[in-house]
Amino acid sequence: MAAPRILLIIGGGIAAYKSIELVRLLRKAGYVVRCVITRAGEQFVTPLTLAALSENKVYTSLFDLKDEVEMGHIQLSREADLVVVAPATADLMAKMAAGIANDLATTLLLATDKPVLAAPAMNVRMWLHAATRRNVATLRGDGVTVMEPDEGEMACGEYGPGRLPEPVAIKAAIDAAFSSPLPLAGGVGGGPVSSLVLPLDDFRSSADMPSPSPSRKREGDLDGQSDFAPANHRPLFGRRILITAGPTHEPIDPVRYIANRSSGKQGFAIAAAAAEAGAEVLLIAGPVPLPTPPGVIRIDVETANEMAAEVEQGLPVDAAIMVAAVADWRAADTAPQKIKKDGSGQVPPLALAENPDILAGLAKSPQRPPLLIGFAAETNDLIAHAQAKLARKGCDWIVANDVSADPMGGESNQVHIVSQDGVDSWDRLPKAAVARKLMEKIADELEKRAPLERD
Ligand code: C5P
Repeated sequence: MAAPRILLIIGGGIAAYKSIELVRLLRKAGYVVRCVITRAGEQFVTPLTLAALSENKVYTSLFDLKDEVEMGHIQLSREADLVVVAPATADLMAKMAAGIANDLATTLLLATDKPVLAAPAMNVRMWLHAATRRNVATLRGDGVTVMEPDEGEMACGEYGPGRLPEPVAIKAAIDAAFSSPLPLAGGVGGGPVSSLVLPLDDFRSSADMPSPSPSRKREGDLDGQSDFAPANHRPLFGRRILITAGPTHEPIDPVRYIANRSSGKQGFAIAAAAAEAGAEVLLIAGPVPLPTPPGVIRIDVETANEMAAEVEQGLPVDAAIMVAAVADWRAADTAPQKIKKDGSGQVPPLALAENPDILAGLAKSPQRPPLLIGFAAETNDLIAHAQAKLARKGCDWIVANDVSADPMGGESNQVHIVSQDGVDSWDRLPKAAVARKLMEKIADELEKRAPLERD
């Protein structure tokens, strides 16, 4: 199997210096990297540094005739398996969205027939500007995978989203693209993936695909293919995991809805830990303003019915972890227009209808995952309620947590894993630590229930 090839397009911006680390990481992992740098990018990193690290020629100009003789720009844009734009500046993304091709980088991006992954970096105001929001939506609609930028202090001193994701996170997204290929940009086959951070269609279809690369093998089984060797500890490598998280919003009329206080933090931490542990992760999220963890495929939904439909679409998976606080009821009828006070003092009636129980439905589904996990937030008789819920829902584990002391939205969690085998009680831990510990337990359990083929 040939080493996977990356065409790395480096835009201008202070974050361009991070491309040096990215190239180093990619080379170390065995990727072949060819760099193209924009004129603005050259202000921050030199082609010489990139050439030395990538051990490959660096391309800078469309009009360098020598380059055209050696390799035409069409060929350059197509010989890679994946085109990565990092940093993707506001300017570069605007040109990509508009289909402008006025330098080597933008010409390659328009000419390529390969999937494109963009890692944005810009000032927070620029990232939040309506024009950039539009461009990002257009690019995602065209099948370009646009990562969420990191949040934090910027080189300019402002604070917020817009920092280039760390090189390890970009590499994780690249690794994920090779284990579950991205769609082709430009509508060549990817189809619209508007609100997705990584495209869902590929998550779905990859279930039926033969192993796309040795990357699906488990660590230690790589018969010399170290190009694809997963990072040190990836016990869920080769697994597909579906996670629901956050609340659902059930509309009453166009401006009002029924909701709950779920923050989504534990579910998002679990999705992050699952991706870190090497799994392909599909996160079906209710409305929460949390950033998408690196390497995670996210689908945003509003209602329980939408969540149920997306869960069904996401199957089959090795494990499903249902962390979402799904609303038990929705408004029986949603008013098409805002319900108005008429001054009579009469309160409008609000009839409720029961929502589908997604977890219980999945337990009965012919595509029931080998490991099905539910959550239970309780204020009293925690274990007894969790045991009853385990039986009622037909799942394998219930992760029970007492929300009487630390209500939803906190940073830590004390959980008890309730199963047929008994109760495994853990200390109070930060939510990220709960998530990581859960991944270890899930990996062990999956090895028992559904061992991976070791070829
Ligand atoms: O019944 P209860 O809401 O307490 O059950 C909690 C568990 O069931 C969680 O795992 C939650 O994600 C799941 N659930 C669901 N669909 C519902 C209600 C709860 O998947 N309609």
